[in-house]
Amino acid sequence: MYTVCIAMKLCSVALLAALLAPAIYPQASNKISMESFGTMPGGEQARLYTLTNKNGMAIKITNYGGAITTIMVPDRHKHMDDVVLGFDDLHDYLTLAKTAYFGALIGRYANRIGKGTFTLDGKTYHIPVNDHGQMLHGGPDSFNTKLWEAKDVSGPEGEALELKYVSPNGQNNFPGMLTVAVRYMLPATENELRVQYTATTDKDTVINLANHSYFNLLGKGKGTILGHKVMIDANNYTPVNDTLIPTGVIAPVAGTPLDFRKSTAVGERINDNFEQLKLAKGYDFNYVLNHSGGGTPHLAARVEEPTTGRVLEVLTDQPGVQFYTGNFLDGHPFAYRSGLCFETQHFPDSPNHPNFPSTELKPGQTFRSTTIYRFSTK
Ligand code: GLA
Repeated sequence: MYTVCIAMKLCSVALLAALLAPAIYPQASNKISMESFGTMPGGEQARLYTLTNKNGMAIKITNYGGAITTIMVPDRHKHMDDVVLGFDDLHDYLTLAKTAYFGALIGRYANRIGKGTFTLDGKTYHIPVNDHGQMLHGGPDSFNTKLWEAKDVSGPEGEALELKYVSPNGQNNFPGMLTVAVRYMLPATENELRVQYTATTDKDTVINLANHSYFNLLGKGKGTILGHKVMIDANNYTPVNDTLIPTGVIAPVAGTPLDFRKSTAVGERINDNFEQLKLAKGYDFNYVLNHSGGGTPHLAARVEEPTTGRVLEVLTDQPGVQFYTGNFLDGHPFAYRSGLCFETQHFPDSPNHPNFPSTELKPGQTFRSTTIYRFSTK
């Protein structure tokens, strides 16, 4: 009896301590939390990782496709909402996310390669096509469908998750074994997500890595993005043909509804009678950023949602950003034009356009790139 009583006392002390701990030590831990996310068709377990910071910002990432499932940020009244399109369990990613790439890491080659064909070192490669006769986002079963190896690399500067994937030589017919590491980092005091990509190869190859998050600063499921005001720091873009493959021309945005150098509501010109907008069914264009390279992320785009006051700034060292307005979302499960993507990357179909910045990676070189998604309110 005495023992039970002591045990109960100890239990209640422990319970009290556990209840009080979050209040006394609000962000005592700089270790990310992990939970189960579901079982892959082959039986492996997918996980969900939660990164938090001292302002209460939270980011959830699954190692299935390295997808960002949730980003909780405050509006101007400190009300928190999830500002990305994503799901709470693996099953939805396996069944609903197939062609929309919600929040996922995209590789080996983000965006399109015409007919999936390119020549490198005199040899022609054919990547399986998966989008109207073109290769999109690496072809079928690409990085967005793989289970990445995850490691908690948090430190005093913030919580961080490193995801690693080794793509075997010849996967989807791409040459070389490619080792990719992506670090997602949430600083302790700044409301921003830093994404750092590194990649190495054992044979000459081409790569283009991106994240495919759809943002909605009203909050996921709370309406379309047509009222969001967007600025993109680009004087030029790469026009496309009717299969959304670049023609190779670098054209000025001036005088077209694609000009976002001054902040403009997405919905203001999206239905204008402009051939490129008709071909893409809305905005779905690679913008040639005015500032890139040098390893330093520059401001590429700024989005402001007037009713909530939420602001997103996208900074990158990549030469391009694919601005996509969710024109292929069809209500199952997310509404038409209810998410905005800023896929920071190299230009689509670069291997077939010698005038575009090169996407070649050789053994001994390390591909490095950083993109920052910075949140604030106005
Ligand atoms: C990219 C493409 C779009 C579309 C989406 C995925 O943003 O540019 O055309 O394919 O991915 O649905």
